[in-house]
Order: sequence, then structure tokens, then C-alpha cells
Amino acid sequence: MPKVAREMVENAGIGVEKLLEKLIAAAGAEFTTFYYYTILRVCSIGHEGEGLKEIIEDARIEDRNHFEALFPRIYELGGELPRDIRSFADLAGCPDAYLPDSLAGGKTPSGPSMTDLLNVLVEAERCAVRTYTDLCEYTNGKDPRTYAICQAILNEEVEHEAWFSEYLGEGPSGHFRRGWPGASPYVKPFMTADHD
Ligand SMILES: [Fe+2]
Repeated sequence: MPKVAREMVENAGIGVEKLLEKLIAAAGAEFTTFYYYTILRVCSIGHEGEGLKEIIEDARIEDRNHFEALFPRIYELGGELPRDIRSFADLAGCPDAYLPDSLAGGKTPSGPSMTDLLNVLVEAERCAVRTYTDLCEYTNGKDPRTYAICQAILNEEVEHEAWFSEYLGEGPSGHFRRGWPGASPYVKPFMTADHD
């Protein structure tokens, strides 16, 4: 564990244990959302669902990337991931992104059930935007490394929210599709264990 890296953060006036709690909750939300978005993408079928499939995949892979970018910082600061994945899921800072009841049994999304699906997606992104805005505010000017990671993630979460809100008829966001699924244009530099 890089002792001085933690000391610098402490000396800047940050409660490192509190910061670790926030980072573990954020990492838990990324991990569980990656799981739930797998189900949501699989169930996004038919004429209406198909158009949504690619951006659910982008958001799904990018959430996995967010987990990849976050967890090393938890260990650097002297924290650790819970030993039991069940405890980890319980610590997640955002609600479970369950498949809506209206799509249970593999029903094709359309009309109201499409809106149900989009609401689950947009609410998950809105929780993430709040999470990383809070982490940026908490670390701003005090912990440049955690701030940089969280700011990169926030940039992607804002784009995810924008994609889904467009489908809900909330107006254009100005964003275009990724070059390839889950490209993570902002977070990629922090995924140092990722080799392509
Ligand atoms: Fe995310």
C-alpha cells in the first residue's frame, strides 16, 4: 500500500475512511449495474427494444470499466473490497436496476413497458451522476487522483443519462454513439491493467 499516497490525502483534510466508504459504495453500484444491465440488454428486443440495445451495451461495458478504474484506488488508499460478494452488493450506493415486472417472462418491450425499461435505465444513470458529483466535490482540491478518476467516470455517466433521457422524449442531448461498444473515452486512461 502506498503509505505516502494515503498520508497526502489525510493531510489535505479528507477523512480517508469516509472516502473509502463512498468509493466502495460506488464500485458496488458499478458491479451490480453491470450485472443488471446484462439482463436489461438481453431483454431489449423487438422493433422498439432493438434500437436501445447498443447503448445499453455501451453503458453496461462502461460500468464494468468504471469498476476496473475504481477498485485499485480503494486498495491504494488502504481499503479493500468486501470478501463476500453478497455484502458488496448490499453496500452498493444505487438501487438494483431490476428488469421491470412488465417485461417478465421475456415479453417484447413496447409502449408502457418500454417506458418502464427506460425509467430503470435513466434512474440508474441519475444515481451514478449524483454519486460521482458527490465524490468530485468531496475530493476537489484535496485528492487529485481520486478526483481525476471520479471526474472521468462522471463524464461517461452524464452521457449515459443523456442517451436514455432522449428515448424518454426529454429532448436532444447532442451526443453521438460510441465508436465501438463500451469505448470509455474518458475512463480508458485509468484502466491501466487493460491491454488491447
Ligand atoms: Fe458507471
